[in-house]
Amino acid sequence: MEEGHLPVLAEEVVTMLAPRPGSLHVDCTVGGGGHTERILEAASPDGRVLGLDADPAAIARTGARLARFGDRLVLRRANFQELGDVAPPAGFPAVDGILLDLGLSSHQLADAGRGFGFRTGGPLDMRFDASRGEPAAALLARLDEASLTDLFRRYGEEPQARRIARAIVEARRAAPVATAGELAALVERVVPRRPGPRGRTHPATRVFQALRIAVNGELEALEAVLPAAVSLLRPGGRLVVLSYHSLEDRLVKRFVAAERRGCTCPPSFPVCVCGRAPRLRPVGPQPAVPSPEEVAANPRARSARLRTAERLAA
Ligand SMILES: C[S@@+](CC[C@H](N)C(=O)[O-])C[C@H]1O[C@@H](n2cnc3c(N)ncnc32)[C@H](O)[C@@H]1O
Repeated sequence: MEEGHLPVLAEEVVTMLAPRPGSLHVDCTVGGGGHTERILEAASPDGRVLGLDADPAAIARTGARLARFGDRLVLRRANFQELGDVAPPAGFPAVDGILLDLGLSSHQLADAGRGFGFRTGGPLDMRFDASRGEPAAALLARLDEASLTDLFRRYGEEPQARRIARAIVEARRAAPVATAGELAALVERVVPRRPGPRGRTHPATRVFQALRIAVNGELEALEAVLPAAVSLLRPGGRLVVLSYHSLEDRLVKRFVAAERRGCTCPPSFPVCVCGRAPRLRPVGPQPAVPSPEEVAANPRARSARLRTAERLAA
């Protein structure tokens, strides 16, 4: 059992992916390997998993923890937006199932040096892959007030975006906002905690979400991987996506709806001229959500939404 990160909706994920002897699966967000481990166990004795993660620390830790599966587990440090290029040369040219468990792991959240958690005093970085792109602190130092407002609105759906952006611009005249703790305290001063049960959510939650999405290009990566995943699935193969906020879930829902429809011709056209056939059919509840028992045991599961779709024959 993986310590530190409990896989969300693990039973439902395995049921939907239906691993069996000889099957091939891709876990695009292998993280601590909780889901991958269950898939490999269910696919004994010879089913295989390709596990991707942008974070080299996740690849190293999971490689060591799941070494007992030998060459049944192939790990690659890669952004999942490169799925179409990475999977075939790794021995996965067409697969039975693909999993995306979006966002960050408990390991990343707990790592004070990475700036994902509110209370950490380490640098405000937030990159899954620290070798690429710009840390969150650099983004906060560089963007003007209007751009910060737009970022908090667009990726955090933060109603107080303008006030928070103004406070950041004022604060950084004296000193850069360099740590997660400083940013969380600043937001808490501008947007006090709400009384009652809603006050349990930290007031900086949406701002942290927005920065993380921007720093990692999360929505662009998701938009890129979905069509690549469908192309990689065998007929009858399944795509399973676990998302944790409405921006991701909306994107997945719309993608599945469009692939179910196929044709993209405007309704005013008397006949189809695009020739696009449906490629997916939704399977199971849309979305499935964790039980109250799972949320009580694993608060990170609280906002999870699981969507499954099956590849139709070409
Ligand atoms: C929620 S965790 C996955 C946890 C995993 N299912 C488990 O059971 O341990 C998400 C993981 O996806 C990785 N990740 C996020 N976006 C990524 C991307 N675009 N490409 C590759 N990995 C990504 C993160 O680094 C993190 O390790």
